[in-house]
Amino acid sequence: MPSAQVIKLEPSRQVRRRLIQVQAQAVSRLREDVRGAIQAGQRPVIATTQRKGGSGKTTCTRSMAEFASLEDHLGIRVLTIDTDPQCSLSKLYLSVEAELDSGARPPLHPDFDPQTDTDWNGRSSSADMFYDDGGVLPYPVTRLRNPGHLHILPGDSVKLVDVEEHDSTYLAEKVKNRIREWVNQPDVREAYDLLIIDTAPSDHPLTQAALRAATHLLIPVTLEQQGIDGLHEMLSMWRKENSRRTENEELKIIALQPNLVSAGALHKGFETTLRSNKAFASFLSPIVLKRRQAIAERDVRGLRPGSIYQLAPSDETRQMMTDFGIFTVAKAFGLDPAKYVRKDVFDGR
Ligand SMILES: Nc1ncnc2c1ncn2[C@@H]1O[C@H](COP(=O)(O)OP(=O)(O)OP(=O)(O)O)[C@@H](O)[C@H]1O
Ligand SMILES: [Mg+2]
Repeated sequence: MPSAQVIKLEPSRQVRRRLIQVQAQAVSRLREDVRGAIQAGQRPVIATTQRKGGSGKTTCTRSMAEFASLEDHLGIRVLTIDTDPQCSLSKLYLSVEAELDSGARPPLHPDFDPQTDTDWNGRSSSADMFYDDGGVLPYPVTRLRNPGHLHILPGDSVKLVDVEEHDSTYLAEKVKNRIREWVNQPDVREAYDLLIIDTAPSDHPLTQAALRAATHLLIPVTLEQQGIDGLHEMLSMWRKENSRRTENEELKIIALQPNLVSAGALHKGFETTLRSNKAFASFLSPIVLKRRQAIAERDVRGLRPGSIYQLAPSDETRQMMTDFGIFTVAKAFGLDPAKYVRKDVFDGR
């Protein structure tokens, strides 16, 4: 006679197998529809922003980028841009040179040839957009196994701080427009299908420049007072930015994305508060990203697999992040996420 434990596990294993199938089918439908949107000329630019530090900007940026670019997911061409002087995303994706006193700078570019490139020092960073001729050269990501079409324009700590410290109003205005000019160049639009900009936990000119360049915003939020205070500031930055734009180029919010959520009364209480708050409710993501060790482990250099999307399809954290990837990327391409995300994710919200 089977043990009680075996009987108890059976339905959940079936449910999980069914979930793998349902998600795989949703990803393949989305893959087709995203390709259609790209052919129709869509080139979304997502900025991940939140004043509150440690809310999950870099984690959300890399998750969307990996979901969109990995060959067995959407397989589209993605460029991530690191505008944070902490350079967290650059450190995840490239072997950056990090020094205690001066921070991080990009490695030598794989295309650099010291014999012929005599007027280039071989490094390229997002900060270079703001200097000299503004030319920059993204890097293929090297710290992921089979990264697909994923590139990064890394940060350079010293140079990004210099850009932020431009104090004349004229220069600050130039900084704020510069990323937008860069991403709208014909060769950048030609080379990438989706751009995602990771920002620092600040409202400095660089973050404003990211907002100005963006077509969409993703705002991660932790369910605690500081996280929610940060939301008010982000929504007022968003309104201010939209007041400068025409209606057909409106900056859209993909979601206020609850992250690092734990079981317990505190987080449940804040989630209920947010869902019943008129200013926030319509933007709140139906997907709640729980605090999971498998997510924090993806920051550990050398740990395999490097991407959450390379864990086993039955992994519960991968499944949660797949719902997140489907939801965010569908919205960025103007598609209705309800067509792809499991119905039960929307139920009860
Ligand atoms: N859902 C999650 N579960 C577990 N750990 C998480 C989760 N989301 C983020 N983390 C971890 O929390 C830390 C902060 O996350 P992250 O670096 O993405 O935040 P951030 O908003 O980019 O921070 P900063 O404001 O410093 O740029 C990281 O160590 C990350 O691995
Ligand atoms: Mg970060």
